[in-house]
Amino acid sequence: MSIEYLKQSDAAQRRAKQLMECGEPGQACDAYLEAATQMLRFAGTQQGEKQKNALWLAEQLIEDARLAGDDAQKQNEARVAGIAAAAERKIAAAAQTPDPPAPPAQPDPPAPPVKPADPARPSPPARPEKPAETQTNNSSAISRDLKSWQQRGSRMTSDAENRMKFVPVESPNVHFSDIAGLENVKSMVRLKVIEPILHPELYERFDKTMGGGILLYGPPGTGKTMIARAVATETGLDFFSVRCSDIVGKSFGDGERNLKGLFDAARESGRAMIFFDEFESLACKRGGGSTVMNRIVPELLSQMDGFQQADGLLVVLASTNRPWDLDSAVLRPPRMTERIYVGLPDFPARHYMVKKALEELPKESLLDYDRMAEALEGFNCADIAAFVERVKEAPIRRGLREPDVPQFITVQDVEDALAASHSSVQKSDLEAFGKWEATQH
Ligand SMILES: Nc1ncnc2c1ncn2[C@@H]1O[C@H](COP(=O)(O)OP(=O)(O)O)[C@@H](O)[C@H]1O
Ligand SMILES: [Mg+2]
Repeated sequence: MSIEYLKQSDAAQRRAKQLMECGEPGQACDAYLEAATQMLRFAGTQQGEKQKNALWLAEQLIEDARLAGDDAQKQNEARVAGIAAAAERKIAAAAQTPDPPAPPAQPDPPAPPVKPADPARPSPPARPEKPAETQTNNSSAISRDLKSWQQRGSRMTSDAENRMKFVPVESPNVHFSDIAGLENVKSMVRLKVIEPILHPELYERFDKTMGGGILLYGPPGTGKTMIARAVATETGLDFFSVRCSDIVGKSFGDGERNLKGLFDAARESGRAMIFFDEFESLACKRGGGSTVMNRIVPELLSQMDGFQQADGLLVVLASTNRPWDLDSAVLRPPRMTERIYVGLPDFPARHYMVKKALEELPKESLLDYDRMAEALEGFNCADIAAFVERVKEAPIRRGLREPDVPQFITVQDVEDALAASHSSVQKSDLEAFGKWEATQH
């Protein structure tokens, strides 16, 4: 669906910006390219002005990728130069250290040739007076350093650097009023997050914990990701939005380090929300084939436990379409104490959604929102958003054909869009939630 491409492009752009801020232009370049690819895909689904705009945006993203790539190259050159200089300094220092006394009975081992590990590195100064043994020790120490630097690559290792990777994203500018239905989620968030900010004394008096873990689960396209973004906007908490791919790294131990960095960064902020989208891909059941995931889950559990006990207002919000894939320990208190099913929109929510989307647009006559809300029963919100887009396309198409005639949305446009729209919800999906729910009590 075209809107998905836009969302993915948007997410990749945000990632790219964060990576640039963290001094990771190489990875940012990849993220910008991903954003450009998604934008091109989106352009493929559009026509006319919209398509032109999307193509222009894609071009900008490619330019951003190019600039990030240039930065990465400079950074790499600077790193190589830094390492080479450090290597030279070490060699020079070694040249000044007194020779260690040779062990009496041991014959000298043959000196292996000193190979520069990096062709860009200047060759070490000749030291004819040094005994072979010292030369070997220093060279192997240096080549060990070089090797470990190469292995390290652009990966950050220290705790502080790890924390730096996770910076809160800008307020996503989605509001509660943009969200149809989900009243139970909104009121839970009010109780857990907004009211403690407004009335801290009341919560303190009753020694009520603030924040905590909230799991949103339900079929796709019902607004789980969207409401997390609205919570961030409405509460003003620092919003750390994470996907599994942000955590699981390429090297051994990356996942644990990244998780720690993430929670440290959120704790440091003191008023933060960590949002794990598609939580099942991170907190999946242990015991499967993946050793990486088997190591990440315990770390996640211990970080979550520490997080809940930390001072400040800290919230972990997670969303999943597949709660049955979650490791059961994640669901136990004190971790996800609140679990909220985010289901298909009911009549008032469908009504709210179509009315809000179409109300302000130029129309020929009054539209029958009741009729639409009725006809869209069984649709998820993403399907309804797609229906609304379809309604808007009809007058735009007419406008492109007849640029001088003012165009309006007509009742027929709505009927045509209704006839062409389908629900993407699978009955078996809904049944699966029912079954899972039954196992939880
Ligand atoms: N409750 C809602 N109110 C208004 N629009 C919604 C709602 N839920 C979903 N949408 C629309 O559907 C799109 C996909 O929703 P999303 O939050 O990604 O669903 P989920 O995370 O549950 O799969 C959103 O970008 C938005 O356009
Ligand atoms: Mg989602």
